[in-house]
Amino acid sequence: MTKMIKPNSAAMLKRAHQNMPMGVADSYRYWGEDNTVFLSSMQGCTITDCDEQTFTDFRLAYGPIILGYRDSRVDSAVINAITNIGTISGFSTGLDSEVVELVKSMCPNIEKMRFSNSGTEAVIGAVRTARGYTKRNKIVVVEGGFHGLHDEVMWKSDVDNWDVANEKAPAIVSFGAGIPANTREHQVSVPLNDFAALEAVFARHGNDIAAILIEPIMGNCGSIASTQEYMQQLRDTCDANGSLLILDEVKTGFRVAKGGAQELYGIYADLTTYAKAIGNGYPVAAFGGKAAVMDTISFAKDGVTHGGTYTANMVALSAAKATLTVLNETDAYQTINRVGQEIQQVLSKVFTKHGIEHCFAGPDSMFGVHFGSSVPQNYRDWKQTDSELYTQFAMNLIDNGLMLEPDSREPWFICEAHQTMDLNWLEQVADRSMSDAINA
Ligand SMILES: Cc1ncc(COP(=O)(O)O)c(C=O)c1O
Repeated sequence: MTKMIKPNSAAMLKRAHQNMPMGVADSYRYWGEDNTVFLSSMQGCTITDCDEQTFTDFRLAYGPIILGYRDSRVDSAVINAITNIGTISGFSTGLDSEVVELVKSMCPNIEKMRFSNSGTEAVIGAVRTARGYTKRNKIVVVEGGFHGLHDEVMWKSDVDNWDVANEKAPAIVSFGAGIPANTREHQVSVPLNDFAALEAVFARHGNDIAAILIEPIMGNCGSIASTQEYMQQLRDTCDANGSLLILDEVKTGFRVAKGGAQELYGIYADLTTYAKAIGNGYPVAAFGGKAAVMDTISFAKDGVTHGGTYTANMVALSAAKATLTVLNETDAYQTINRVGQEIQQVLSKVFTKHGIEHCFAGPDSMFGVHFGSSVPQNYRDWKQTDSELYTQFAMNLIDNGLMLEPDSREPWFICEAHQTMDLNWLEQVADRSMSDAINA
């Protein structure tokens, strides 16, 4: 069991309250006065907190860690770049094209690309490019999707406060104060895998829809995935209406396959966003797609603006080059997928032993766990799963040294370093945690 009293964490939080709102650098890191985590180190698939407790980590920083923490293949490339080349200069280097060419060799959907520093910025760039290209405004998004922290996408379907028996759609609410109401003006939201809803939206707004923006596998909604048919409908609908398909692969890109979710579906976007796994934890992101669309970025009178002081800095690009080289040239994906399957088998055995109906959503490298009889098809279905039992189970796992987000909307992330984990330990910990959750 982890410690009930964590004196060093408590002291750090107390100090941090004097320095940052909520005592944290990102609001989602605040887990309450007793449970907010302060780390002292990370290695492989483990994290160690400042009270010397080590956890096997399935949260992996919300997905970026694909090889493992402090992977020497990536770290040494970054150290080499900053020692021998530099960090930023406001000019280009040959590394820009080297990384794009690597991405192109892995992702047939990319003809041209631009870099950014976060998934949020990549989405901003892709949406602006789509609007510039189509000369239209509206963006269709999917309930339960997440696309970053800029105002326009900081609106969500309030499924938490939605009554399943209610036939009306969940209310759309902002993520909080400071988001002007008019930033929603150009956004239309539909439930995932609902063919009729998509048709209705295009019938109403088709002429002004610049793009559909969707996570093909919702990494922020328990890995609930588009069906093959729905992905095809998205592609066909965009083609028929002169709209662009933007696939937000910030979580799935370079994680679920070399070519991301698009490789799994065999269906390709006009524009794609990447971040997270592209740099194994270093801050690098990108968006790209068809050359004709990307070439809208220009100084022409009707061209799209893109750039930024830190864009394509050496830390980011050397990390991306090293990470992608490992992913492209080794059997890392085989390892990650095998370990992901083994972990699901262990969990399934434990859930079955305790008589818990369960299912897994999404790919083995990023799977959602749902307590219910069938895999949810969209965010509204998720509401019917027993997410409270999941949260209790997850809190118990944390108490037993396994770190994850205690919310079934966040998937279990697997990295190559998880191959060193003891599956017997996992079974014991999961068994104890479920037993305690049921008897809570
Ligand atoms: C699908 C998706 N898009 C965009 C973002 C925003 O990325 P970032 O946090 O790097 O700004 C996230 C973050 O989790 C995401 O999951």
